[in-house]
Amino acid sequence: MSAASLAEPLSSPGSFAKRVLVTGGAGFIASHVIVSLVEDYPNYMIINLDKLDYCASLKNLETISNKKNYKFIKGDICDAHLVKRLFETEEINIVLHFAAQTHVDLSFVRAFEFTYVNVYGTHVLVSAAHEAKVEKFIYVSTDEVYGGSLDKEFDESSPKQPTNPYASSKAAAECFVQSYWERYKFPAVITRSSNVYGPHQYPEKVIPKFISLLQHNRKCCIHGSGLQTRNFLYATDVVEAFLTVLKKGKPGEIYNIGTNFEMSVVQLAKELIQLIKETNSESEMENWVDYVNDRPTNDMRYPMKSEKIHGLGWKPKVPWNEGIKKTIEWYRENFHNWKNVEKALEPFPVQSPCL
Ligand SMILES: NC(=O)c1ccc[n+]([C@@H]2O[C@H](COP(=O)([O-])OP(=O)(O)OC[C@H]3O[C@@H](n4cnc5c(N)ncnc54)[C@H](O)[C@@H]3O)[C@@H](O)[C@H]2O)c1
Repeated sequence: MSAASLAEPLSSPGSFAKRVLVTGGAGFIASHVIVSLVEDYPNYMIINLDKLDYCASLKNLETISNKKNYKFIKGDICDAHLVKRLFETEEINIVLHFAAQTHVDLSFVRAFEFTYVNVYGTHVLVSAAHEAKVEKFIYVSTDEVYGGSLDKEFDESSPKQPTNPYASSKAAAECFVQSYWERYKFPAVITRSSNVYGPHQYPEKVIPKFISLLQHNRKCCIHGSGLQTRNFLYATDVVEAFLTVLKKGKPGEIYNIGTNFEMSVVQLAKELIQLIKETNSESEMENWVDYVNDRPTNDMRYPMKSEKIHGLGWKPKVPWNEGIKKTIEWYRENFHNWKNVEKALEPFPVQSPCL
């Protein structure tokens, strides 16, 4: 939101059953959540607060942008004055807080910016939401707060041991959110999800990056050995997980949102080469990969148990083969949804960690 429009009331609350603030709604996951909320809950007003950073695209929201129960506000979660005023004028009942700096590689070179947005920005939001007496505040965190583990599966009571500046900032923000629950019984719920993939994701992250590189006849750049494994969840499954937590998640609780589906980065590259370059030949596949320097720290795996959210009735449904084909198709048509997106395909300069 520009400073000029702050003089005007943001809107008159009207007669919606609930007024839901979604932060970071022009980004990957939250845009899917917003589309689903706007379409399936016409009696809810959905307000999207996003500063439109390099990874955001309003094209992610084109299908719902003219709906009566949707409103976009361009603004920064770190702007305490704007955020306070937004809670007052919009009469927010529920918050889904997604906005963050999210790219691990970038966090090694811009660590303080990650701390500012992810920790300070979350504190600003929690404080305003507490003053406004919201009925639910969902803080979207990550499995990366657990750090790496080769065999032990993390559950919600496992200690936080982050190993990169992104994960550290998400873990620190969780502490602020939890302290409002401890002190005020502020109705916060924390989610920690595995890696998500699907349409709308800026192609700096591994799956859309490899897809886009191959679609532009370039090699997949693999960090280090590529033997690190990751668990991948399809976007629509994660949307359902958030809707489940919205309806049934208990204040003060943490919910892992995970999947048993796991593959190494090398396996991932090979699958994408098979699907996009239509080859099964090992030697041809090797021509489409390039091994580059590893990140300063790179967790081998972070296996997670998700029984707690299964108890609320959620389980992932979309098989990998189906999700990945839909994702590949989407990038064929929509790679140019972001400005200067070609930059995202360049190899990332690996530097010393500045934790
Ligand atoms: N992508 C994943 O696999 C994954 C996994 C686990 C958790 N998460 C968490 O989910 C959330 C969303 O992740 P994503 O990958 O969809 O993110 P994204 O990078 O695609 O989008 C982030 C959005 O936040 C906005 N934003 C950034 N700083 C802001 C600020 N100061 N004020 C207002 N808006 C701001 C950006 O403009 C962008 O639209 C993040 O909190 C992330 O930590 C993501």
